[in-house]
Amino acid sequence: MSDQDAMKKQAAEAALSYVEGGVIGVGTGSTVNHFIDALAGIKGRIDGAVSSSVASTTRLEAHGIRVLDLNAAGELSLYVDGADESNERLELIKGGGGALTREKIVAAASRQFVCIADESKLVRVLGAFPLPVEVIPMARSFVARELVRLGGSPVWRDGFVTDNGNQILDVQNLEILEPAKLEQTINNIAGVVTVGIFALRPADVLILGTPDGPRTLRR
Ligand code: A5P
Repeated sequence: MSDQDAMKKQAAEAALSYVEGGVIGVGTGSTVNHFIDALAGIKGRIDGAVSSSVASTTRLEAHGIRVLDLNAAGELSLYVDGADESNERLELIKGGGGALTREKIVAAASRQFVCIADESKLVRVLGAFPLPVEVIPMARSFVARELVRLGGSPVWRDGFVTDNGNQILDVQNLEILEPAKLEQTINNIAGVVTVGIFALRPADVLILGTPDGPRTLRR
């Protein structure tokens, strides 16, 4: 296991202490995969999980953890997910794995959002990681032109289809100084399904794996 992977695992295992029972939300990605594996050890404590992707559903079910539809679960007490970047205010860029729409829905439906990552994900200003934007396929070129007007350089994630049947533009060259404002602006472009800025609903807790052990930041 690489050092980075070990730090992801460390953060994921530290998040277990936030699991208090009921139905919890589970995100997507390599860090969350460690969380799902660790969750299997205490699965008797929860009633099940709402998953943010087909990939996480498969992994949860392989561990014998019941996966529920969000419509059947109601409000969730906890959501655990990774991130591609976080600033000190726990505003995030997410969607590197393409699961941003369901992630944003489950985060919005949860009382507490615990984000888990290795320490390399903490940045001063969001935007070095290309910002994923999920778009309705017929709107791709139009949305790309609008993103250029905002100063970005969108690149089509060619060949990738989201779990919702849509496409992704990865927007390079953005320095995101006002994340909540840009999130609203991009949300308002016709044809945008979801933008990967999580600032209107940021994380509440960020657990970073570090060489010295887990570091926890709170809003
Ligand atoms: C999935 O769409 C993303 O939002 C992930 O949460 C993000 O890419 C983090 O992934 P890793 O845990 O693999 O770094």
